[in-house]
Amino acid sequence: MAYLNENYLKLKAGYLFPEIGRRVKAFCEGNPEAAKRLIRCGIGDVTEPLPAAVVAAMHRAVDEMAVRDTFKGYGPEQGYEWLRGAIAQNDYRAHGLEVADDEIFVSDGSKCDCGAILDILGDRNRLAITDPVYPVYVDTNVMVGHTGEADANGAYAGIHYLPCTQANGFIPEPPQEAVDVVYLCSPNNPTGAAATREQLEAWVTYARKHGAILLFDAAYEAYITQPGIPHSIYEIPGARECAIEFRSFSKNGGFTGVRCAFTVVPKTLKAKTVAGESLPLHPLWSRRMTTKFNGVSYMVQRAAEALYSAEGKAQVRALIEHYMGNARILVAGAKAAGLTVLGGVNAPYIWVGAPAGYTSWQAFDKILGEANVVITPGSGFGRNGEGWFRVSAFNSRANAEEVSRRLQALRW
Ligand code: MLT
Repeated sequence: MAYLNENYLKLKAGYLFPEIGRRVKAFCEGNPEAAKRLIRCGIGDVTEPLPAAVVAAMHRAVDEMAVRDTFKGYGPEQGYEWLRGAIAQNDYRAHGLEVADDEIFVSDGSKCDCGAILDILGDRNRLAITDPVYPVYVDTNVMVGHTGEADANGAYAGIHYLPCTQANGFIPEPPQEAVDVVYLCSPNNPTGAAATREQLEAWVTYARKHGAILLFDAAYEAYITQPGIPHSIYEIPGARECAIEFRSFSKNGGFTGVRCAFTVVPKTLKAKTVAGESLPLHPLWSRRMTTKFNGVSYMVQRAAEALYSAEGKAQVRALIEHYMGNARILVAGAKAAGLTVLGGVNAPYIWVGAPAGYTSWQAFDKILGEANVVITPGSGFGRNGEGWFRVSAFNSRANAEEVSRRLQALRW
């Protein structure tokens, strides 16, 4: 009989969002009337239609595929040059940041890239991961055997947890000890907190001192509204020597169902062999992509390219303003209900303290049962998320207003 990957047996719970889905399904089956008024603010999934520029570009691309002369088979595994160029130019060079076209790797999603990056990192790295955290960073490390077993609290051996609490504004500080790989997400999922330039400078300084790599998830950068908050880790001098950046079209272009993202691997970024030789990671990631990936579909890459047209940029801006308008309504509603509210300023998530005496899951049950609104329990993102819950602003305006009213009508 074949052997299975026993690392999977170390995973403590099912992936958070399917688990929430199961509970919501059970609730709806048992409460068909309440199910009719259910509003979902759980998973951060976009609700608004694709920008018109994207739709037009996809239609054109489909038409090209229908004609022998313009038909495309396999594309470059790293992405078409015109898309890599548009990304590097618009997202980086236009902002004075040095990123070459061939440092951009186009993929079908940041979640996949966050897991796949472990292919090129060794198994003896000391990891630092925030708590609370986007669960993908932890679970993918468990799956490839980069952690030990979980303890009774669900903390995995081999991970240095960086506590994020109200006291530090849910922004982690570099630890005293040396680690090799650090996951940072700003603006943050789930807390909505965004790191300042000084906070990111401290991380880059730390990484350069210890030869560590920062895995910087910037999937929500388009939601930053406060001036001065960095949109990219490469805004910090020295980051090209210590950071990989993940970005996604899911939340800015509404591509959660379309699937397109990219990862930036600077050619100046190095890691070492066990023998101590320092080598660039760029060729390894390129090799990984050419071997395990056949590129994103032509139609989808044309769709992503359209986000960088003048029309596309204006439509993306309108989408983000829509969701951030929802965030403002939700923040105001939760505050009027007397709750502690963070986030919602530079991110489409609001992070709400459950009233005293309620755990995150108890708050989830109460809000689902009495307000018929699905939220995400903070404890699902880690121990320090206990006592908090996340409300996603991805919704219609009418739903955001209704959720705001229902939160205010709840009696705890
Ligand atoms: C979330 O709700 O945290 C996100 O939708 C997850 C994701 O982007 O994969």
